[in-house]
Amino acid sequence: MQHPQQGRHKLRVGVIFGGRSGEHEVSIASATSIIEHLDPNKYEVVPIAITQEGRWLLGAGPQHLLAAEREQTSGGLSESLAVTLPGDPTVGHLVPLSQPERPEQVATAGQLDVIFPVLHGTYGEDGTLQGLLEMAGVPYVGCGVLGSALGMDKEKMKMIFQAVGLPIVDYLVYRRHEWERDPVSIVAAIEARLGYPSFVKPANLGSSVGISKAHNRAELEQAIALAAEYDGKIIVERGIDCRELECAVLGNDEPLASVVGEIIPSNEFYDYRSKYIDNRSQIVIPADLPPESAELVRHYAVKAFLALDLSGLARVDFFLEKASGQLYVNEVNTMPGFTTISMYPKLWQASGLSYEQLLDRLIELALERHADRQRNRTRLQL
Ligand SMILES: Nc1ncnc2c1ncn2[C@@H]1O[C@H](COP(=O)(O)OP(=O)(O)O)[C@@H](O)[C@H]1O
Ligand SMILES: [Mg+2]
Repeated sequence: MQHPQQGRHKLRVGVIFGGRSGEHEVSIASATSIIEHLDPNKYEVVPIAITQEGRWLLGAGPQHLLAAEREQTSGGLSESLAVTLPGDPTVGHLVPLSQPERPEQVATAGQLDVIFPVLHGTYGEDGTLQGLLEMAGVPYVGCGVLGSALGMDKEKMKMIFQAVGLPIVDYLVYRRHEWERDPVSIVAAIEARLGYPSFVKPANLGSSVGISKAHNRAELEQAIALAAEYDGKIIVERGIDCRELECAVLGNDEPLASVVGEIIPSNEFYDYRSKYIDNRSQIVIPADLPPESAELVRHYAVKAFLALDLSGLARVDFFLEKASGQLYVNEVNTMPGFTTISMYPKLWQASGLSYEQLLDRLIELALERHADRQRNRTRLQL
């Protein structure tokens, strides 16, 4: 595809990272890799840090933000400029919130050709930022408002998977107020339908935060109370003894699926510690599977992507029950971890697309999607 800006100047890519979410540091790690690998011959990278308080800072790279937060000083951020993105397409770019010390800072705040929101979790991966970017009229990488929101809400995601016939693990959903009103009936209903072990999750979170595996009634009660601290909606699932498979999907209207990978968690399940801290979980690519099982994973991955109205990219995660051989779709991640050793880029690498080529393709897809949306009429013509 011909880039609209080709020949004039390099494509100016705003990379947004950090953010108001439990996955702030994960985002910084992903953005560090992305910024390092965006080809400087093609792109001018404009780093945009969002602090834990939600402040947008132009000119601070991921490492500056990290250092400033670790040392609890604003030292590394002294060169940065607080900016805002107005939800006004006639502005369409970042606006300084104060008088910049150096005039060239304003120039960088100028028109961005595309934004790469490298944010995981709330206020980044859940449709909220995507809504702002739509309002501002800036093309952006990844899923839109609806797809991002559905990818975050484990209940609505499951409802759609069920509606299109994708196999999912049996589950129940409760609201926090229901739990507080009648915990005894809820425990009885879970024991009757799902039994132990069961998995208890806040409906709208990620990185296994607030998730527990309950082996008995006491643990179940504790697990629900914990999940209810994170979210007003709580999912309880039948716990299965399974292998964990992941597949990367890339595209817009005609998405492609990568080879299949397997995660071997270092703990009893793939919790926060085994994801990010102890470094002992293993990734196996390609997963050791009969070809027809791998094909089914890829088929379901694309089906899940289309069912949720996703675009750009998503990682689709599966459980393969050991005893029965039954495959279940667990969830999608619309902005999966994106360091060079993360599953999503590694799956594409194994499928023949390098990290750099993957970034090029994601930016192309963002521009294509934006151009396609521009075709929609927004005014009634009688
Ligand atoms: N029903 C289940 N049976 C077995 N293991 C589960 C189940 N649900 C979740 N897990 C384990 O918990 C991990 C995190 O759950 P997941 O639903 O993927 O939440 P998150 O969005 O936080 O990644 C999974 O990767 C898996 O190890
Ligand atoms: Mg998961």
